[in-house]
This record gives sequence, structure tokens and C-alpha cells, in this order.
Amino acid sequence: MEKKQIQELIKTALEQLDYSYVPYSHFHVGAALLAKNGTVYKGCNIENAAYTPSNCAERTAFFKAVSEGIKEFSAICVVGGIDGKTTEYAPPCGVCRQVMMEFCDPETFQIILATDTEHYQVFHLKELLPLGFGPGNLA
Ligand code: THU
Repeated sequence: MEKKQIQELIKTALEQLDYSYVPYSHFHVGAALLAKNGTVYKGCNIENAAYTPSNCAERTAFFKAVSEGIKEFSAICVVGGIDGKTTEYAPPCGVCRQVMMEFCDPETFQIILATDTEHYQVFHLKELLPLGFGPGNLA
């Protein structure tokens, strides 16, 4: 991916921090999911007073896309931090990595972790979820 495209995704993910509904943790997370058709699906985390119904930003983005018939993806950018301050990377939780495993090729799908548009690192899903269990295991 070109630097300019990565920076666009980071910008979009950062914009989502304002929409996070986080009255309990105050930890804002924003995601920008790039589909293979070029569309970017945005997501924020949404918490709940009963805690377990809370949804991560990454899954919000994935489920928005899949619910609209889009199931092929090339990259996701994730940013986050307490009170929306992105001083450190916000790596995806295990559940979100598993959701990525369902729809993405672990060898090629890219996960961009960033603190701002100049400071980021790109990982492949395979690195963050080694030996992942996916649809191929049931084929
Ligand atoms: N969170 C995400 O949105 N994505 C992750 O991958 C890690 C955690 C959210 C869930 C919860 O609203 C808050 O961050 C603190 O765990």
C-alpha cells in the first residue's frame, strides 16, 4: 500500500474517535476498513451498561460492510486511547482478530496501527494471529 493511502485510512480512523460511545472505559477506538472494491467502512467502539454487549470498533466496521454484502477486504487501520488520545498503538483484541480471520487472507490482509498520520506500523494478520483457525479448517 502506498504511504498516501495509508495516511488517508489513518485520518479516517482518527475521525471515528469522536463517535466512540465509551461512558465506562473512556477508551476511544476508531477503525477504517478498506474493502477490495475501494470502499472504506468506518467503525467506533460502542459500550453498554451491561458490559458484554459492547462492540469493538473493528467489528463495527466489519459488520457494517458484511451487512451490506461486502466480504473482501485488503486492510484495516485501528487507532485508540484513553479520552481519545492516541499516544500508543491500540492493537486489535483477540475476538476482532478472529473476525478478521473469517473474512481476510491472513497472508495478505494488512493491519495498520497508528498514533498519527506520520507514526504507524503495518502488520499482516498472520503475524497478529499465528496459526489462526478459519473457514479453511472446516473445508
Ligand atoms: N476495544 C476496541 O474497540 N477494539 C479492540 O480491539 C480493543 C478494545 C474497545 C472495547 C472497549 O470499548 C474499550 O476498547 C476498552 O476495552
